[in-house]
Amino acid sequence: MLSRQIAAKLQEYETPFYLYDVALLRQTLESLMSIASKYDYKIHYAIKANYDARLLQIIREYGVGIDCASGNELRCAIEAGFDPKQIVYAGVGKRDKEIRYAIEQGILAINCESIEELHLVNELAGEAGRVVSVALRVNPDIDPKTNHCIDTGQADSKFGISYEEILSQVDDIKSLMNIQVIGMHIHIGSQIRELHVFENMCNKVNAIVANLTQLGFELEFVDVGGGLGINYDMPENEPIPNFASVFAIIKQHLKVGARSVHFEFGRSIVGQCGELITKVLFNKTTATGRRLVIVDASMTELIRPALYGSYHNIENITSEEEQRLKYTIVGTACESTDVFDENVSLPITKRGDLLTIKSAGAYGMSMASCYNQHDLPGAVYSDTL
Ligand code: LLP
Repeated sequence: MLSRQIAAKLQEYETPFYLYDVALLRQTLESLMSIASKYDYKIHYAIKANYDARLLQIIREYGVGIDCASGNELRCAIEAGFDPKQIVYAGVGKRDKEIRYAIEQGILAINCESIEELHLVNELAGEAGRVVSVALRVNPDIDPKTNHCIDTGQADSKFGISYEEILSQVDDIKSLMNIQVIGMHIHIGSQIRELHVFENMCNKVNAIVANLTQLGFELEFVDVGGGLGINYDMPENEPIPNFASVFAIIKQHLKVGARSVHFEFGRSIVGQCGELITKVLFNKTTATGRRLVIVDASMTELIRPALYGSYHNIENITSEEEQRLKYTIVGTACESTDVFDENVSLPITKRGDLLTIKSAGAYGMSMASCYNQHDLPGAVYSDTL
């Protein structure tokens, strides 16, 4: 909970804006990297979660690499000073110019998601006179037990190449002389809270890696993606995700010999470090008796509730009222789904009060839009308050 003193300072900034807890980000990175180094695991930050320049500078200080999902994300990472040799690039639909750029930059691997893409990378690598390192993104057909909107590794998903297709195309893949398959990649979904899912994932990966090796692929690394979830219900109880538990599961169950093991964490690195601060514009009650609080943020600053029905904890950080009421918190956008939450218990909330929408550091700002010609939200950092 933000102190009264900080809440008072926040009144000086134009709302809505993202407030980033820089100290928490550092603690999170320290926790992550100290445990990862014990196992010699390689960590990439999934830059799609948040590409705020200040946060990227901090993340880079900890020696983390990058996982990107577009040419522009790759450019952003390079401009922020990340080492291309620590960057991987996945995505089902890479444009020619994006692939050309990735080839030029000499990144660690292009994670290819279709046989056609492998052919295209091979062709463009040939044009550039290079042999390009790629990883095969395999669809492992695993249910990650998360919101269906954000699972990515089930058989019917658009992501990855089906294992059967890889098996049927082995000779074809091997005939491509301008690419070298050096890795195997999977990412099964996001906001995974049932950690036993990672055990199933390891079992699948073990079998796939063993078979690919037998088929003659010389894999140097296995990239098991991201997906570790955070506690949206009670963020204060778990400000830093349980990296130790995930790594212990992976260590115990992943059997990939001397190959290096890579992770691509997004949400678990930045999710709890950001919150969206918004001001109450109006109160009104519907004919059905629903008490609405209309705030100056909307789905244009944080789309997760409207898009996936996601929950974010909301608090009033300035009200001094004792009595609490139940409110529906709605945004300014011209969309009926622009509702942050219903039945939220808050102290009596009035025009001018500041609310915080918590756990918004990941997929908040990076998914912001200008719908209704809204301005993009600003950013405030805890260490400059
Ligand atoms: N690697 C790949 C290939 C990915 O597609 C993703 C996320 C990650 C890593 C990072 O996953 P994380 O550690 O953040 O779970 N906008 C949605 C989440 C979409 C995730 C897309 N891919 C949300 O707000 O919940």
